[in-house]
Amino acid sequence: MARRGNRPVLVLHGPNLNLLGTREPAVYGRVSLAEINRAIQRHAAARGARAVCRQSNHEGELVDWIQSAAREGFQAIVINPGAFTHYSIALRDAIASISLPVVEVHLSNVHAREEFRRHSVIAPAATGQISGFGSASYLLGLDAVLQGPMARARAGRRAPRRATRRAR
Ligand code: DQA
Repeated sequence: MARRGNRPVLVLHGPNLNLLGTREPAVYGRVSLAEINRAIQRHAAARGARAVCRQSNHEGELVDWIQSAAREGFQAIVINPGAFTHYSIALRDAIASISLPVVEVHLSNVHAREEFRRHSVIAPAATGQISGFGSASYLLGLDAVLQGPMARARAGRRAPRRATRRAR
């Protein structure tokens, strides 16, 4: 369960991303998933947020985590769906069924690679997509939700109090 009141963000890594560091280093770099997760958590903490990182090679497990994210107290999701990006209607439907902001991220620039990688079935259901900045894509994804939808949600919650003060 994510603690409330601390801007908890769920970061999901899809299939084969557990192999980062050794998997096609020319494409994905030499940084391991554990190192990326530590960088994500440091980045979140420096911004008064908290990131919980999970990886799965299984579509259903990712769907379960997306479905339960709000119930677990998360306020946004950053997801690298890996190869599921290109064909998982189940993941796309899970993202479309929740109201949390979701940012799709990719280490590589999927638009500059093979034809089949240029199409994301996730992107139309996501709030936005960041692709091509290596492990920094995750940090940019985190910034995007913290500065965009989550910041607007917080401002929205404060609005009634400001209105009350002005009225006095
Ligand atoms: C990826 C791109 C996908 O096409 C690929 O299947 C991955 C990684 C990326 O981060 O660049 O597993 O999502």
